[in-house]
Amino acid sequence: MKKIVLAYSGGLDTSIIIKWLQKKYDAEIIAFTADIGQKENPAALEEKAIKTGAKKFYFKDLKDEFINDYIFPSLKASALYEGKYPMATSLSRPLIAKNMVDIARKENADALAHGCTGKGNDQVRFELAFKSLAPDLKIVAPVREWEFRSREEEIEYAKKYKIPVDVTKKRPYSIDWNLWGISIECGVLEDPWQNPPEDAYQITRNPAEAPSEPDYIEIEFNQGIPVGINGKNMSSLKLITLLNDIGGKHGVGRIDMVENRLVGIKSREIYEAPAAVILHSAHLELEKLVIERELYHFKNIISQKYAELVYYGYWFSDFRRCLDNFVNATQKYVSGVVKMKLFKGQCIPVGRKSECSLYDENLSTYTSKDAFDHRASKGFIDIFGLPLLLEGKRMRKSR
Ligand code: ARG
Repeated sequence: MKKIVLAYSGGLDTSIIIKWLQKKYDAEIIAFTADIGQKENPAALEEKAIKTGAKKFYFKDLKDEFINDYIFPSLKASALYEGKYPMATSLSRPLIAKNMVDIARKENADALAHGCTGKGNDQVRFELAFKSLAPDLKIVAPVREWEFRSREEEIEYAKKYKIPVDVTKKRPYSIDWNLWGISIECGVLEDPWQNPPEDAYQITRNPAEAPSEPDYIEIEFNQGIPVGINGKNMSSLKLITLLNDIGGKHGVGRIDMVENRLVGIKSREIYEAPAAVILHSAHLELEKLVIERELYHFKNIISQKYAELVYYGYWFSDFRRCLDNFVNATQKYVSGVVKMKLFKGQCIPVGRKSECSLYDENLSTYTSKDAFDHRASKGFIDIFGLPLLLEGKRMRKSR
């Protein structure tokens, strides 16, 4: 290996990786950090990467690409892993991988590296993406291979090679942060019986301390995509940022779950994703109004499969592309407005309207406006219930 593009975060692991790769392969290292809303200082990152030995540093603003090509497709698909997790981390990996491959091509590199451990999902997501986008490039996963057994050993190595490390900032948690949500694990969270301590949460207020008055917000969708809030159109980034702020203020978007990792382990993780939780809830609510019953039920099945594919790192697959075609077709009429109530950690849809609504008050009303043909139900029930009638008769005979 001569030239390696590394997914660089500036943390202890990826800093050491730069040196470790250089020494082991005598290779040139190109460090790459994606801006996906994690609020990094690019100048400080660059300085650190170069000081640590990187030949070059790339910082790319991928926020819009993340939203348009990864987040919104998953929102339209209502993809929540194991019914709860909006997959901020999972969705970001194929995006980062794709941009690493682009840089590798530009720089004529022959290998790609990441800093994931050998027991997580992220290694799988990176490497599956690398395999499908650049089957010819080599893959290195130093953390899976190297000799260090503890953080202390890593710090010792860093000191030996004068790698700047901030040992004072010993965080008790492992945190992955982007605009779609925050994933928090390790420390006391490893005991699934322990309440998450308040200091584990980064952007949401404790619901007990949230405002005692609710906020009502109206979210407008156009074909499944959120386009405005409270009657104002705005950019997708602004919309998500706004929902993270207002949701966070009300303590909305906290998720505490034990999940099934792809490598077979069960892990306890907490998430904070105010915008994602609000948007998924509002979007599903609008779908209920405009999508026909059987399609709505079938789409639920697709949602589960879609979430599995994303979680498993199958982003760049024909399977995912085919599901996207299906999902996009279901979104034709998903345009309208949903009113959400945010209050003390909860977000509840309390109103919905759409030009494409299938709701007909004349059919659902119990007043004199009622236009539903009650008598027709008799024939419907006779025929719909025929299989059960036959079964029932047989049961009586065999007794
Ligand atoms: N369990 C989540 C996933 O696999 C998040 C993983 C990263 N979490 C973290 N705290 N670093 O998508």
